[in-house]
Amino acid sequence: MGPPGAGKGTQAKRIEKAHGFPQISTGDLLRQPDPSRPDLKAAVEKCLASGELVSDEIVNQLVDARLKRADCSGGFLLDGFPRTVEQARALDGMLSNAKRRIDRVVVIVAPADVLLERICGRRTDPVTGELYHLKSKPPPADIIDRLTHRDDDVPDVVATRLAEYQSKTAPLIDFYRQRDLVTEIDGNQSMEAVSAAVDKVLS
Ligand code: AP5
Repeated sequence: MGPPGAGKGTQAKRIEKAHGFPQISTGDLLRQPDPSRPDLKAAVEKCLASGELVSDEIVNQLVDARLKRADCSGGFLLDGFPRTVEQARALDGMLSNAKRRIDRVVVIVAPADVLLERICGRRTDPVTGELYHLKSKPPPADIIDRLTHRDDDVPDVVATRLAEYQSKTAPLIDFYRQRDLVTEIDGNQSMEAVSAAVDKVLS
């Protein structure tokens, strides 16, 4: 968990490579429209463009289907899910059905000005999925022309995403704290320092 730009995706992709747990990012799932559900496309696109959360019903269905895939049988890493108490309750049901449990909830935090700077400088390689930042993780010169900048990575939409996080997702931290599952990590440090803190939790 963590606000937009905190470094969730960066850490999740690294853990996926290092430990083999699939990274299940609801943001990524929502950005790749499901061809079997054309009825959801317009509602999802509207939320992604505005920065508002997609409805719990849609997101819960996506995650439930994803967790049933074979690659999740040895464990998985949720990135950006759950984001509401409703989603957290739905996840409890999915895990209970699968006889699994949450090992740890890692919350990465950073101040708003740092988040904005990170989001505005973020670039994604559509070929490899690798995340870059124009200053803190500059991309190799030979791939610069193919990099993309997310449509929701603009200040107005980021403001809505941050507000959604504060009002709907931040309260979940207490929900999991009451279960003694939360480790909070200072995301306002170098990627290496954040990675070391995350690895300590995993070990
Ligand atoms: P999503 O795609 O999940 O976006 P987000 O939560 O806003 O998070 P970001 O991807 O922006 O940031 P991040 O924390 O992963 O940071 P990153 O590692 O990339 O969601 C998008 C939208 O989908 C939502 O607005 C909503 O509409 C919808 N949605 C998704 N899940 C949903 C759900 N469960 N329910 C309802 N709706 C949902 O890092 C950012 C940049 O900083 C990168 O350039 C990176 O290189 C750099 N960086 C990372 N760490 C460091 C560091 N330590 N130092 C310096 N730079 C760093």
